[in-house]
Amino acid sequence: MPLVTTTKMFKDAYAGGYAIGAFNVNNMEIVQGITEAAAQTRAPLILQVSAGARKYAKHAYLMKLVEAALEDTGLPIALHLDHGNSFELCKSCIDGGFTSVMIDGSHLPFEENIALTRQVVEYAHDKGVVVEGELGRLAGIEDDINVSAEDSSYTNPDEVEEFVSRTGVDSLAIAIGTSHGAYKFKPGQKPQLRFDILEEVGRRLPGFPIVLHGASSVMPEYVEVVNRYGGNMPGAVGMPEEMLRKAASMAVCKINIDSDLRLAMTAAVRRHLAENPEHFDPRQYLTPARDAIREVVTHKINHVLGCAGKADL
Ligand code: G3H
Ligand code: 13P
Ligand code: ZN
Repeated sequence: MPLVTTTKMFKDAYAGGYAIGAFNVNNMEIVQGITEAAAQTRAPLILQVSAGARKYAKHAYLMKLVEAALEDTGLPIALHLDHGNSFELCKSCIDGGFTSVMIDGSHLPFEENIALTRQVVEYAHDKGVVVEGELGRLAGIEDDINVSAEDSSYTNPDEVEEFVSRTGVDSLAIAIGTSHGAYKFKPGQKPQLRFDILEEVGRRLPGFPIVLHGASSVMPEYVEVVNRYGGNMPGAVGMPEEMLRKAASMAVCKINIDSDLRLAMTAAVRRHLAENPEHFDPRQYLTPARDAIREVVTHKINHVLGCAGKADL
């Protein structure tokens, strides 16, 4: 099966009250761990690539890895640019075979965000590629940009209809309390998601797919392993999974998860090397690392996203 866009995935997800997982990929073991989990659970899948991932692994290598995953699994997979920050980057990914791009103008004034997003939509739609835009600003670290909690802002529901109709975007990322990275809440702070904003956005945009970034739960069992084997991540904490599950049953059709995969992989490598200090063959520690990715993604599909068995095969 060739790469697909997210159009049908999102239509089915909205109607079915579940979400599609969008997992960040950077190398072969990550691609394999994610796609093995999706194949075993028959889940539709979005693999996403950040500018940093593209710089690290190179476009051509990532394309080939994803093509291999398509061939290996037969799954419907969309290949998405995560946090595109310019028209040129989006164009390069569209020309290079991606089926979906995000143009993240969330840091721009409203009119400038609309103008940039519209420019990407015109180019993308002409080539059959879908576009995700963003309104509102998440806290946390993405690529090299660190957005402080003070500079973050919730999405204003009064702006969403105008943004969607004037840009023509196919999905919209909103800020309702999630944030990027492994330190989403301060010690003692109660995790919260603004379901009232999500509900209002859903009312204003009936049937329209909403995207949630920064949705790692920073699974405590992996933080514990990292810290037990020489890591130093005190205070790492993420979004409670039951809140994400609720969002997936509402208008949220795409949930972005990266930090949980990084954490699971690092925990597995740390544990393996601590328990087998004589090992030096990368295959010895990358095998449990890949297994850990597969376990986390399987868990997310079954307990957060609700998309097991939903792949059109
Ligand atoms: O939101 C950003 C993703 O976690 C990707 O992170 O830019 O470090 O690859 P990255
Ligand atoms: P996390 O850092 O919570 O995994 O968020 C990932 C993300 O939003 C990628 O765009
Ligand atoms: Zn993100």
